[in-house]
Amino acid sequence: WLKKKQLARFLRERLPKRIHDLLRDFGQVADDLGLNLFVVGGFVRDLLLRQENFDIDLVVEGDGIAFARRCAERFACRFRSHEKFGTAVIIFEDGFKVDVASARMEYYSRPAALPTVEYASIKLDLFRRDFTINTLAIALNRGRYGELLDFFGGQRDLKDKAIRVLHNLSFVEDPTRVFRAVRFEQRLGFRIGRPTEHLLRGAVRQGFVERVGGSRLFRELELILREPDPWPAVERLASFDLLRFVHPQLKLDKTLARVFAEASRVVHWYQLLFLERPCRPWLIYFLCLTSALGREAMAEACRRLNVPPRIARLVTEGREEALAVRQRMRRWRHRKKPPAASEIYRLLHPLERDLVLFVMSLAEDERIKQWISHYFNHLAQVKCELDGDDLRQLGIPPGPVYRAILDDLLNARLDGRVTGRDEELAYVRRRHLS
Ligand code: CTP
Repeated sequence: WLKKKQLARFLRERLPKRIHDLLRDFGQVADDLGLNLFVVGGFVRDLLLRQENFDIDLVVEGDGIAFARRCAERFACRFRSHEKFGTAVIIFEDGFKVDVASARMEYYSRPAALPTVEYASIKLDLFRRDFTINTLAIALNRGRYGELLDFFGGQRDLKDKAIRVLHNLSFVEDPTRVFRAVRFEQRLGFRIGRPTEHLLRGAVRQGFVERVGGSRLFRELELILREPDPWPAVERLASFDLLRFVHPQLKLDKTLARVFAEASRVVHWYQLLFLERPCRPWLIYFLCLTSALGREAMAEACRRLNVPPRIARLVTEGREEALAVRQRMRRWRHRKKPPAASEIYRLLHPLERDLVLFVMSLAEDERIKQWISHYFNHLAQVKCELDGDDLRQLGIPPGPVYRAILDDLLNARLDGRVTGRDEELAYVRRRHLS
């Protein structure tokens, strides 16, 4: 158990100077306004776990928006407020953001409904939260700086590595917490406590999760898939019978495990090599998770999860294209001659990067992996040196033919038949001007 002084020192030693100074300054602003101020939630949890987390969530006993406004004046930065919820964001010049909330008590008018809000004390504010490990707060006012508030056994549960709810209705009030429980459990290497697991299973069994809107479910799933290694969490979801909310046909089996493991290798390989061309691992994992679903089932999953249109298109129509590409590559394996670089490029280039990586995750054959890896390593970025202006200067009348010529030229370049500008010019003259 940490004493106030110890925690003040801990804050000083663990945090970058800028963050530490900022907390101090926030405390001063709160003093000036006569308000009690706390940093709460994930920031405190991760601080005590010695894990880096600079997402600062502040709670003010009283008007959080007035506090944020004063901070914006004091630090010459911007702030945005959300009157209805009594919340604000302080936005610093360089984009660094700090969330501010007014301590509040939430009344749930019916299970799974959005809460209505009223001002309350920090203790009530913390009581409405999901798990004990997220209910820790540290006072920031000058006289109390570093005082740890632990009303609900948060420190004990950090020590026990336990995910525990605060009361029996927690999952009923907010069924998205069943997904959060799994996410925190797997991320932190904790264990959902026995009574909490019992409540979780009860909430699932009694159909509370069904009442959550599709968008919120999808958001929770996305957050799980955004974790560095989501597979254990997916297994845990399955053990709680939570995969059926994606689609009732979704099942966990050896094939899925293998595809996920492969996707994880593919994602890590890709991220190591191509930092400057980012992919979306969560989307690749989502495609893997749903890879056993047919076309119609996938469309249905998108409808029930209210998947945003762009993503929905990618995982339905885009996925069909990806599967067709996969078929083509499988057939290539039976050809006598391996595919030319330009063939690989033409096949893969129209696909979004995440879909190519999905195809790579599905590949059972090393050759398919090698072709895709060759594409990323050597082909994806290849460009011709000539452009439309050059063609005009060569005296070719502008028109759709330009596209065809430049495509042909790029193929020649990809296959190593021309290198450099002079050879490109010679190539075009030879092929398209005679
Ligand atoms: N919270 C909750 N119920 C939810 C969502 C959030 O009680 N369904 C509470 C949690 O106590 C959490 C706080 O709101 O501490 C902020 O939520 P979020 O930013 O999602 O939590 P973090 O703990 O910061 O999670 P992460 O580390 O993933 O950012």
